[in-house]
Amino acid sequence: MSIRAITEEDIKNLEILAAKYPERRSALLPMLHYVQSIQGMVSPAGIQTCAKVLDLTPAEVAAVATFYTMFKRFPMGKHHIGVCTNTLCALLGGDELWKELTDTLGIGHDETTVEGLFTIERIECQAACTVAPVVTVNWEFMDSMTPKSLRELIEKLKLGAPVQSTRGVQITSISDSERLLAGFNDGKYSDSPLADDSMLAGLRVAKQRNMSAPAGKGVK
Ligand code: FES
Repeated sequence: MSIRAITEEDIKNLEILAAKYPERRSALLPMLHYVQSIQGMVSPAGIQTCAKVLDLTPAEVAAVATFYTMFKRFPMGKHHIGVCTNTLCALLGGDELWKELTDTLGIGHDETTVEGLFTIERIECQAACTVAPVVTVNWEFMDSMTPKSLRELIEKLKLGAPVQSTRGVQITSISDSERLLAGFNDGKYSDSPLADDSMLAGLRVAKQRNMSAPAGKGVK
């Protein structure tokens, strides 16, 4: 898979991100997302470019890029599929979903299908346990998944058919998601609802029972 070179236009966009923050180095995470949006990974050239724009050493940028698992040092496919296999999702079917996905695509964790369509990853808790088991496509949520709905999802993505997150967002590509995460909203993604009824159930019960969290030590 060929990696797109970083252009002058890209450097201008990285400069725009750096200029958003009082401390330019605070822009590093959005900048790495931008690099990933254009290259499908964070390449050595991407690391060098971010370092140059922020006046950091490549080692300092590489230390950040290699700490966060969202940043990949290998080219991703068009779609990134995550399956949450943390405790609650695993208990409610996440392990079966992971088996279904690896069996269907014939690849494992952090691997990409040969035609370059899918990269898959076992992911940690997405703070969406109320709708477990959870799958993400390009970091958009697919709630309450089953092996059947996962198979159907993969088929649709293979065919290039329109796919929506269970929360309404149109799925496009990991590249578009990374651009959005960098801070460039090109309108391809609409706003998701902030919380559904199941997510608010605990809060509702707490209010009905007049419950509140105990104050922490030293908090008045
Ligand atoms: S354990 Fe999967 S979203 Fe929390």
